[in-house]
Amino acid sequence: MTTETITADASGTFGLGDLPVRRIGFGTMRLTGSAAFHHGTPSDRERSLAVLRKAVELGVNHIDTAAFYFSSLRSANELVNTALSPYPDDLVIATEVGPYRDYHGAWGTSARPDELRGHVEENLRQLGRDHLDLVHLRRMRQDSIAEHFGALAELRTAGLIRHLGISAVEPRHLTEALRIAPVVSVQNRYALDRPDPVGDELLRLCGEHGIAFVPFYAVAGEAGERGATAVHDDAVLSVARAHDATPAQVRIAWTLHQGPHVLAIPGTGNPGHLTENVAAGALRLTAAELTSLDQVRGQAT
Ligand SMILES: NC(=O)c1ccc[n+]([C@@H]2O[C@H](COP(=O)([O-])OP(=O)(O)OC[C@H]3O[C@@H](n4cnc5c(N)ncnc54)[C@H](OP(=O)(O)O)[C@@H]3O)[C@@H](O)[C@H]2O)c1
Repeated sequence: MTTETITADASGTFGLGDLPVRRIGFGTMRLTGSAAFHHGTPSDRERSLAVLRKAVELGVNHIDTAAFYFSSLRSANELVNTALSPYPDDLVIATEVGPYRDYHGAWGTSARPDELRGHVEENLRQLGRDHLDLVHLRRMRQDSIAEHFGALAELRTAGLIRHLGISAVEPRHLTEALRIAPVVSVQNRYALDRPDPVGDELLRLCGEHGIAFVPFYAVAGEAGERGATAVHDDAVLSVARAHDATPAQVRIAWTLHQGPHVLAIPGTGNPGHLTENVAAGALRLTAAELTSLDQVRGQAT
């Protein structure tokens, strides 16, 4: 497919609460360095800034980022601020709080509920904003998210946050959160090559409630934080060939075909991959192709 001229418009839109976004968004986790979670070579700064600007030029208006996406010399939030502020009016910046990293990048335990205000303020400072459009509480294996989510709901009431989301959750956590405050987004790991009954149920529940379901590692799939796999199932390769597309594009298109409320936030530091990922929003898969891809999912271990 000719990717250069396709914009994020082709993917359609969905509302994060009252904020409409194009269904192809962008995740910043891969902008800071060669190794996910940041201990490899820091990224080329100009290249990362160019990727962000190009994303917006291509119509992306949903950017997912976090203060804890940083490497020794790069901060994803600082790159977003430098590349994109003053921010376009329609740009929605989603962030995530809950995980904790020290100045050396080492992971600590989860933030306590009373620490979340500080984490929100760190995002505000780095992004140069006085409120955050959308903050996800990233569950760190807590059994109940009520206390943490309740703390974020207070920050929403105080005007620091416009909308709330949750991440790395099970359906019972969505029920728990909805008793406390409105939820506009659920961000979970979810991909073509990972059978995931819990994710399937969440995706369905989100559709029922008009909540966005936002998969991460949709391109990386089973490889997760290690990055995109070079090994692809025959069904993925065959659908890719039929559309003159790449396996990554098929994976993104499959994600978007899971429901009108499903958003994609592929992450890349590579300008060519960005163009390709945005263009994947124009790929329309046939029922037979979706069945063949669903079979991959069923067979994956
Ligand atoms: N809530 C959570 O717990 C959580 C966890 C992880 C991530 N996230 C968010 O979700 C976003 C998406 O996850 P992600 O960025 O880790 O994974 P991803 O989008 O599934 O995959 C990114 C990996 O695939 C490669 N890639 C991207 N586009 C490609 C293409 N067209 N062709 C070939 N390779 C391609 C990237 O490398 P190149 O840079 O070389 O393109 C990178 O290694 C993150 O950026 C972050 O915002 C949230």
